[in-house]
Amino acid sequence: MIEGRVVRLRALERTDVERAYAWVNDREVTQYLLLRYPMSRAQEEKYLAETAEQGNSFADVRLAIETKDGLHIGMCGLHHGSAEDRHASLGIMVGDKSYWSNGYGSDAVMTLLRFAFDQMNLNKVELGVFEFNARAIACYRKCGFVEEGQRREHYFQNGRYWDIIGMSILRREYEALQPGSAETTVAIPQT
Ligand SMILES: CC(C)(COP(=O)(O)OP(=O)(O)OC[C@H]1O[C@@H](n2cnc3c(N)ncnc32)[C@H](O)[C@@H]1OP(=O)(O)O)[C@@H](O)C(=O)NCCC(=O)NCCS
Repeated sequence: MIEGRVVRLRALERTDVERAYAWVNDREVTQYLLLRYPMSRAQEEKYLAETAEQGNSFADVRLAIETKDGLHIGMCGLHHGSAEDRHASLGIMVGDKSYWSNGYGSDAVMTLLRFAFDQMNLNKVELGVFEFNARAIACYRKCGFVEEGQRREHYFQNGRYWDIIGMSILRREYEALQPGSAETTVAIPQT
């Protein structure tokens, strides 16, 4: 278990299938994800079975997001870990919509960043977000991500193309956000 402030991250289990299956077929959720086609229960079962069997590793971390009282509300992960370049791609889905915009997503992201930098020894975490996903962009900015470019007209949805915005955070930027770091410590004026 990886403890956050209001969430904990744990390994995904086969028994998570009912919730996960519902979330990956909910268009209100998947409109923000690279999930265009309906998913069968068998596909979701296979994904969770493979995840449980392979386990988490540097190359691919897949976790469930739980509230502190054990309610499973979403999934997140760090994918395509590069050992040489020390970076990985972050993905997140708070599938239970009643938990949106209440700080759970940003706590999950901060908890994942702490794991990425302090345990996996990454130097950079990056992600792609649709230009219209204002909530996610606000969440990532709050967590210290900065925009680093965009893939123009990269995704087709609802009759038009949308840009995917690239965002990232470096280890030194993450560390500067931690209490007690030089950046966050208030400077005492010299007399
Ligand atoms: C994106 C996601 C992980 C964010 O998690 P969350 O718990 O909803 O987000 P948080 O509450 O931590 O932060 C969201 C911030 O955006 C703000 N926000 C919400 N709607 C907004 C909007 N339309 N425009 C601008 N800001 C918005 C919130 O007020 C909050 O900021 P605040 O804490 O300063 O008030 C979650 O909403 C989610 O999983 N959505 C569906 C799937 C998805 O978009 N995944 C990410 C794909 S890149």
